[in-house]
Amino acid sequence: MRPPVCLQAIAFLILQGCCGSDPEYFDELVRDDHDGTIEGPVVQQIRDAHPSDVDRCDAACEQLVDDTEEAGGEVISCYASAFSGVDPWDPSNTRVTISCTTERTERVAMAPTCGRRPRGHRTPTAAIATKDDWFAQVAHLERASVVAFEQLAAALTEHDAPPTLVARCLAAAADEVAHTRMIESLARREGTRVPPVVTDAPRTSLFATALHNATEGCVNEAFAAILAGHQARIAPSNLRGTFARIATDECGHGQLGWDVHAWIIEQLTPRERTAVDAALRHALAQLPRLAAQQAAQTPADLGWPTPTRATAMAQRFVAMVASA
Ligand SMILES: [Fe+2]
Ligand SMILES: [Fe+2]
Repeated sequence: MRPPVCLQAIAFLILQGCCGSDPEYFDELVRDDHDGTIEGPVVQQIRDAHPSDVDRCDAACEQLVDDTEEAGGEVISCYASAFSGVDPWDPSNTRVTISCTTERTERVAMAPTCGRRPRGHRTPTAAIATKDDWFAQVAHLERASVVAFEQLAAALTEHDAPPTLVARCLAAAADEVAHTRMIESLARREGTRVPPVVTDAPRTSLFATALHNATEGCVNEAFAAILAGHQARIAPSNLRGTFARIATDECGHGQLGWDVHAWIIEQLTPRERTAVDAALRHALAQLPRLAAQQAAQTPADLGWPTPTRATAMAQRFVAMVASA
């Protein structure tokens, strides 16, 4: 059966000329609303330090959020009032109520999706602040991918899929064992703990397998292969060999996802096919946004694309898959 998507060609085209100088990090804008009261000498200090009521309100707002987790944001709207009904900044007033909104930048906390996750996988919630954290998360995901391919091989066997597809799943599981070892050794160099893989009992219907493969295989793992290709080109030289090996294998795994999709879709009822197509389209539509979030969270010096570049790569990937 001719595969509907040739991932190797897509990866080649997306990575062509991809690895010049990267722009700076992009952070997500977050708005916070604040309500509170300032009183006594603080009111007087602010009144004396700022000539306009607008600046006074902004300063009062900054004072309110100074000790909170949202500190450091820029005031974008502010309203001041006084209980007594007088002008809040009148020299006779000593108590001002503030309602304001600030805008700040924040890195989005989201686990990386560096491959195929098993059905029922529970993503670890640990924050990723350092390269060691990142290696620990990725080692966890590589380990999870072993389970994912074992599950897929079992489901395909149960539903009489072509033996070549089953054999490729088992070979992919073996690749993931090797990836796990490679990334775990990087994670453990600094004593980082790799979160264990926890999965709920998987469903084994062909329809459930098709849905899962569409999102995890055709989208997540296929795009992860392209990201690994990017890392293989611009990561620090001591990491490039690891990422090059992973990129080559992941490209094969992503292609396997599409080949399984091509077979499995023919086995489904028309209604199931429609549902799988919808799930695939939904996952593709989400990919550029998720790619940007993931890139924003990935520490520097790992060869990962910037959020802007990751978004562009994901958009190209989506367009090429759609036109295949
Ligand atoms: Fe992998
Ligand atoms: Fe993989």
